Amino acid sequence: MGYFGTAAGPLRILLSHIVLHLAVVFDNNNRNFLLTNGARVDNQHRQWRVLGIESSCDETGVAVYDSAQGLMAEALFSQVSLHAEYGGVVPELASRDHVRKLIPLIDEVLTKAAVSKSMLSGVAYTAGPGLLGALLVGAAVGRSLAWSLGIPSVAVHHMEGHLLAPMLEANPPRYPFLALLVSGGHTMLIEVSGLGQYQVLGESVDDAVGEAFDKTAKLLGLGYPGGAALERLARSGSAGRFEFPRPMTDRPGLDFSFSGLKTRALTTWRDGERDDSLRADIALAFQQAVVDTLVIKCRRALQQTGLRSLVIAGGVGANQALRQQMQQLAAEQGCSVHYPRPEFCTDNGAMIAYAGCQRLMAGECDGPGFTGRARWPLDQVSRPPG
Ligand code: KG4
Ligand code: ZN
Repeated sequence: MGYFGTAAGPLRILLSHIVLHLAVVFDNNNRNFLLTNGARVDNQHRQWRVLGIESSCDETGVAVYDSAQGLMAEALFSQVSLHAEYGGVVPELASRDHVRKLIPLIDEVLTKAAVSKSMLSGVAYTAGPGLLGALLVGAAVGRSLAWSLGIPSVAVHHMEGHLLAPMLEANPPRYPFLALLVSGGHTMLIEVSGLGQYQVLGESVDDAVGEAFDKTAKLLGLGYPGGAALERLARSGSAGRFEFPRPMTDRPGLDFSFSGLKTRALTTWRDGERDDSLRADIALAFQQAVVDTLVIKCRRALQQTGLRSLVIAGGVGANQALRQQMQQLAAEQGCSVHYPRPEFCTDNGAMIAYAGCQRLMAGECDGPGFTGRARWPLDQVSRPPG
């Protein structure tokens, strides 16, 4: 029955609220948690073991990150097959499935990490942006679990999770860095000066890159979400048959536009002999145009800001053609380039556990309420007190 399934459940939650509020008082001046015995806990230097929960869209992700030991365990349940027949994510189905999968997934991850709930010191959950119902599942479970355990919880911005995902790798970037965030819902170039210090330099004025990949894949009959399938198909395409435009590269600025490319793919498909070679050649021309455009804008942003480190994050960051060309750009510009491992480019619990851990270490924690935010601009993310 899970954590709160017994008759004593509601009473336990109520009691744990009271105990929590007596036991842990957040001291804004000192940015430390004051315990009832008068001891102060130094957030920055203590060891944190944080459970991370991601449920903003169609993936239920859970992980345990430890500030001393690193990532201890993670697991993901993808709802892709659930939504496939509808050609896109159905919000109500997504929320219900998070309800079904989240608690078993938490149990699985704790078992994998050989950690009991009482050994956790914090809980982080994605609070936005995303599908409101889906977000509220993760927020409600994360917040209640923290309350019942008497430990702090923290709300994490989904895009901050993506941005910081390369920190889980062997060669992590150091602040400040330039980040290209390319996901199903966002395309952004961001100057990252520190935790919670994000200046958006450019973004898409229409479709996000992942969205353009998915729409183009759909019209080529590749199913949904089709980014990875389009990449596989592009490998068998012949270069040079079609030359698609590199949108908005002929004018100054760092914004993007991808909706025209998808239309170009559509008209090329409609007007041609619709066979397998046309399909593959369109996939390659589309991917090449997207990658070139992203590289041109990254070069511009590196030159404009003088930053020496580049982070590529978000689902489209798994694309190998993009990685190869970004590697070349970094070599040409004398910069370092950092990616999360491919499975952490797409949505996952590890990035939320990591980002939440950094915020808890900096002295941030939730107040008594919680909420989900369907819309939450990245540059409105708070700078943690530390
Ligand atoms: O970051 P993510 O998991 O979800 C959002 O926060 O939106 O990104 C999902 C997006 C989808 O549009 C998917 O088609 C795209 O990332 N994607 C790819 C590849 N793998 C995933 N696009 C291009 N090439 C890939 N290999
Ligand atoms: Zn995402």
